[in-house]
Amino acid sequence: MYARSAVPGSLAFLGPFWAAPPENPRLARASSWQHRTRRIYAAVMNEAIRPGSDIPQAASPAPELSVVVPTFNERDNVTVLYRRLEAALAGIVWEVVFVDDNSPDGTWDVVRALAQRDSRVRCVRRIGRRGLSGACIEGILASSAPYAAVIDADLQHDETQLPKMLSLLASGQAELVVGSRYIEGYKSEGFNKQRAGASALATEVARKMLRVEIADPMSGFFMVRRDCFEQLAPKLSVHGFKILLDLVASANGSLRAIEIPYTFGERKHGESKLDSMVALDFLGLVLAKFTNDAVSLRFLLFAMVGGIGLVVHLTTLFISLELFKEPFAEAQASGAIVAMTSNFVLNNFLTYRDQRLKGFALLRGLIAFYIVCSVGLLANVGVAFSVYDQEPIWWLAGAAGALMGVVWNYAMSGLFVWRKK
Ligand code: GDD
Ligand code: MN
Repeated sequence: MYARSAVPGSLAFLGPFWAAPPENPRLARASSWQHRTRRIYAAVMNEAIRPGSDIPQAASPAPELSVVVPTFNERDNVTVLYRRLEAALAGIVWEVVFVDDNSPDGTWDVVRALAQRDSRVRCVRRIGRRGLSGACIEGILASSAPYAAVIDADLQHDETQLPKMLSLLASGQAELVVGSRYIEGYKSEGFNKQRAGASALATEVARKMLRVEIADPMSGFFMVRRDCFEQLAPKLSVHGFKILLDLVASANGSLRAIEIPYTFGERKHGESKLDSMVALDFLGLVLAKFTNDAVSLRFLLFAMVGGIGLVVHLTTLFISLELFKEPFAEAQASGAIVAMTSNFVLNNFLTYRDQRLKGFALLRGLIAFYIVCSVGLLANVGVAFSVYDQEPIWWLAGAAGALMGVVWNYAMSGLFVWRKK
């Protein structure tokens, strides 16, 4: 077991194949038994480790509500939001957890200063990571009140709804309360027409395909019972923006939800981080949930880019042969280089847009991508040959080789080109 940690970093991808034999068969049995019972252990706290009466009650009471605020470049908004929370939540014991993805504008610094004056404020500063959903998940899991709310930092959501949301949860009427922009009483000030249209379409798709019943599954404003959330958390995707949709779809109808209308206001300072690529994120989530996580949008995009690469390759080959009268070997090599380069650019822009390489990392990534694809080509030809050897059907051998190539390129690109920090 421990042998795995001794594998040098560059061989880490061999992990799954590197199952070191257990030295002691009894231990091996115990570990599989542990695996089966881990869920039970996670659900029921052992009496021996439950904090007993000998643990002193804290001087300040434990919060009843944790408010989680994802932030990225919201320096000018966080203090205003804090003041507004303080006003809206008078009479409630609350805390606020800001989850900041190391904003270049130093939002975390402002939050830290607030936290130094008020212990109800906490700051989770994440380095080398981005993503609204992941930030919300981490924030909720870092808090411990029985109820957790998620609210944007930019003052577009209406924090005066929080007490009402809390009472709906605390009275047991619901396990999830959603601030909805669509139901009766909804009025929007900060939503342009185009975006409203796209959002309405996405909502329809989500409702039909994932059988999500709530009117505004795209809302970023909700409150949930933490025990319910904690149960669903392992199923949630940390990518993208659609945490609420993910939560409701993953619950499969088991979360009792109530929606309340609110006014979606104007953003006060800074700008929205949701670009047109949000539609892709959404598509990815629908695909993943619909296929029970069997198909990832990233792989589909990677394969699609590969398909485009084939067209680029053939076009370059044709031009080199016909226009520049290059010999075949050189024309073929030009085709491969042009196709690999355009695949790299497209993947960097589309498939791995959330981890886009820039500056020097772009050059390093391009070279790594050339190497990965060259080895992929060898794998492709190798598999095609061995299939053809067994069964001399040209298209079957060709397709098997191409599949091997794309799977190899995808797996290795994720490890060596767009690797997570
Ligand atoms: N930590 C972290 N990391 N926070 C982020 C990130 C990120 O990568 N991206 C955005 N945020 C924070 C913003 O700072 C803001 O507080 C909140 O998440 C929402 O981001 P906006 O950029 O303001 O989104 P929006 O107003 O355009 O979108 C609204 O509508 C969407 C549905 O159409 C929000 O309410 C979203 O939550 C909602 O999904
Ligand atoms: Mn916003």
